[in-house]
Amino acid sequence: MKLWGGRFQTGPSETFERFSGSLHFDQRLLEADIAGSRAFARALERVGILSASERASLDAAFAEIAAEPVPTEASDEDIHTFVIRRLKEKAGAAADKIHTGRSRNEQVSLDTRLWLRAECDAARTLLAGLCEALLALGERFPDAVIPGYTHLRRAQAVLWPHYLLAYFDMFARDFERFGEARRRANVLPLGSGALAGSGFPFDREAIARDLGFDAVTTNSMDVSGDRDFVLDYLYAASTTMVHLSRLAEDWILYSSEEFGWLELGDGVTSGSSLMPQKKNPDSLELIRGKAGRVIGALQALFVTMKGLPMTYNRDMQEDKEPLFDAADQVKGSLEMARGVVESVELRPAPPRSAVEESWVVATDLAEALARSGTPFHQAHQLVGRLVLESVRAGKKPAEWTPEELAAFAPQFDAATARLLSPDEGMKSREIRGGTGPQAVRQALSEAHTRLEAMRTS
Ligand code: ARG
Repeated sequence: MKLWGGRFQTGPSETFERFSGSLHFDQRLLEADIAGSRAFARALERVGILSASERASLDAAFAEIAAEPVPTEASDEDIHTFVIRRLKEKAGAAADKIHTGRSRNEQVSLDTRLWLRAECDAARTLLAGLCEALLALGERFPDAVIPGYTHLRRAQAVLWPHYLLAYFDMFARDFERFGEARRRANVLPLGSGALAGSGFPFDREAIARDLGFDAVTTNSMDVSGDRDFVLDYLYAASTTMVHLSRLAEDWILYSSEEFGWLELGDGVTSGSSLMPQKKNPDSLELIRGKAGRVIGALQALFVTMKGLPMTYNRDMQEDKEPLFDAADQVKGSLEMARGVVESVELRPAPPRSAVEESWVVATDLAEALARSGTPFHQAHQLVGRLVLESVRAGKKPAEWTPEELAAFAPQFDAATARLLSPDEGMKSREIRGGTGPQAVRQALSEAHTRLEAMRTS
């Protein structure tokens, strides 16, 4: 069936129908389309286009259509056409009025917004679950020390939970971003018509209340040509995937033989068909790989939109497949990441010896000198020379005695010498947001409160 045709002498070619049809993918909007159409039928009743009994018969038909799968052989142009065809088959003449004063341009916007609302909620629930798992993993090894890196070179000692809370913060921001994407999607477009505003006096606020929208859109032309709310969602999804991908990259490294810090659970790794010893971090590699796909969806829609003349253009139908795929990938990756976090075992000894055998304490020493009066730049130079000397002599920090240190430079007193132990240096970082043990304990406790707020928002 078509929702148009009077103006044409012949029907569309088979090639064009195959090329332009979207039912095979936009059928994912079935539930949203029906929810939107039922609310629209109520609006039509309120303006006197549908009688109460017509509306009731349409409503019953909608309920049936919602409960049936879309048959694979259905050849309707899109999900909106499919629903209306089925409505006509079930409810007869009253169905001919359902599209009064409504355009598919606003309908596709409405359906996508309704669908995206639920997707934002789903992503937020999964993000909260991941944050919970990260917090639990941090609390299982509260005192473990690891080297923090810059340039993938050992930089400064940090507590294991401090490192995990960095990801907690990233995912907490993603949680907010999906909330913002939801807020932007949650505006009612219905009443905009094709582009110029509907010719019927609908109470748009009433429709918005009916469908749980926070507000109504304010310009019909904008509605017709707008996919910003999809871009907002894809941006939130892409940022989440970037964070997941960086966590994946870290743990692929940290679980390698070269690092040896982490043991990934058997359940999230795979073997090799040829090399019997292999235990590969495929779950993490796939998360990293899927990040490219989701970022690709964001780029694809940007490029689709950038040159479109106002208002609606059929190009915009190309938003759906990347959007649906991105939503599947982000949910799948969040679920998988949680599984990996719950499977992982930290071996605290290797990162501790990585900390102790390197010069991650250098900054602590320089800052201690600066605290007792040496200008920082001179302190930096002095500790730099100490490191150079140690590297030449093959000496680790712990192999310096306080006497040797004082002999190297008189500024190194007994208090500074204590900072050759990385645990001492961390204690100087009790500033809010730092890796001092008390600051981290405080951050862990705050993270519980934040998680609770995520769960109840
Ligand atoms: N399937 C179309 C889409 O997703 C619905 C809108 C069709 N409108 C039109 N003027 N052809 O964009």
